[in-house]
Amino acid sequence: MSSSPRRYHITTFGCQMNKADSERMAGILDNMGFKWVEDPLAADLVVYNTCTIRDNAEQKVYSYLGRQAKRKQEKPDLTLVVAGCVAQQEGEALMRRVPELDLVMGPQHANRLQDLLDDVFAGNQVVATEPIHIIEDITKPRRDSRVTAWVNVIYGCNERCSYCVVPNVRGIEQSRTPEAIRAEMEELGRQGYKEVTLLGQNIDAYGRDLPGTKEDGRHLYNFTDLLYFVHDVPGIERIRFATSHPRYFTERLIRACRDLPKVCEHFHIPFQSGDNDVLKAMSRGYTQEKYRRIIDKIRELMPDAAISADAIVGFPGETEEQFENTLKLVDDIGFDQLNTAAYSPRPGTPAALWENQLSEEVKSDRLQRLNHLVGVRAAERSQRYGGRIEEVLVEDLNPKDPTQVMGRTRSNRLTFFTGDLDRLKGQLVKVKITEVRAFSLTGEPLEVAQLVTA
Ligand code: SAH
Ligand code: SF4
Ligand code: F3S
Repeated sequence: MSSSPRRYHITTFGCQMNKADSERMAGILDNMGFKWVEDPLAADLVVYNTCTIRDNAEQKVYSYLGRQAKRKQEKPDLTLVVAGCVAQQEGEALMRRVPELDLVMGPQHANRLQDLLDDVFAGNQVVATEPIHIIEDITKPRRDSRVTAWVNVIYGCNERCSYCVVPNVRGIEQSRTPEAIRAEMEELGRQGYKEVTLLGQNIDAYGRDLPGTKEDGRHLYNFTDLLYFVHDVPGIERIRFATSHPRYFTERLIRACRDLPKVCEHFHIPFQSGDNDVLKAMSRGYTQEKYRRIIDKIRELMPDAAISADAIVGFPGETEEQFENTLKLVDDIGFDQLNTAAYSPRPGTPAALWENQLSEEVKSDRLQRLNHLVGVRAAERSQRYGGRIEEVLVEDLNPKDPTQVMGRTRSNRLTFFTGDLDRLKGQLVKVKITEVRAFSLTGEPLEVAQLVTA
């Protein structure tokens, strides 16, 4: 290694878990004396933290890697790392495909980055994909935001949805202890963070693997208990969580969200399909009627709560009628936001081997029709904010208009208003909503004078 500090870059693909993993890996690299650089082509150490949820996500990384592999021919001391879900899925095969790689490491190994790099700097090519018990990270993550933060509560997933690669690449469920989660949140509160998002692929599974929490087959400590345990952490004003699974979602959780003032009025509960036969083929373990009952209960107890979800169109064998059941569910419920995707066959998943795959034309046609409906219904849902006063936590500039700042309502609607970021960042501002769009709002701030002295 040269004597000037080596520079690193991390490019992150995929979901919130990967973002959280990247922040922890960046913390480890900072701790090792590396310096962050924005441009991946100027870095001495490059980490691609990858996603393989759909084929297009996986393919992206190969094109990025090609460029870095070429760069390494001129710069042999370049260290190339592939982390995350493609690394876990491909393992050794990735090393053979791109022999310039120094380190291929699965998501469970993120906290071990320093040990793995020590091995690399000793001259080895390293593949770390064996399942392990995830160790608590002792270095501080390098977080992208100073206002909002991710906190993992449970790693992995024990479900076996027939389309999904996550259990293969993230391993079995591993809950962190309530004490470790609360301690991380307390530290965030001391550092001035205002909002925490608790993360798990299936957050309702939280606790079921913790020792001593099961008695007579009943889980004695679950995610709702965790919310009660962490809800009053000083400094943290907002608590969010994702992702909820309809199979395990409880009324007690809704009541906790209603009763705990810091827990935000937003639920993210993917339904995937509005058709019972498709749900069965997906091995989701619930019916569309059960899903509707959950939403009814939320609307009864928290009428104004925002509801978002994920859905897949063009699952193998999905008929036009079955797809229309998804449209019907979306039309009936009226989501504030819906992440939609065309089904993508994934290696190592059951549905990828079925013969009743649909054509790309059918899938993209259905995706367009669903997206159109989502936009229409979300625009209607947005209407309720017009003229209202909403609390917005200011995070950043509006990337499209630097005279405006950007934040979110408690219900997670993106909101813009005119203001000075230096003064407002991290502040909770009361904003009168003057313009509504399908997925965002614009308003005028109230109470700014008080904020200055606050
Ligand atoms: N744990 C969450 C979702 C994790 S993956 C849950 O159970 O809901 C995020 C989203 O990607 C999923 O909700 C699903 O809508 C989508 N997805 C997963 N596998 C997919 C595939 N093979 N093709 C298309 N979309 C997929
Ligand atoms: Fe994938 Fe299903 Fe687990 Fe979600 S619950 S991560 S969709 S296997
Ligand atoms: Fe992608 Fe892995 Fe997340 S596959 S969606 S980064 S769990």
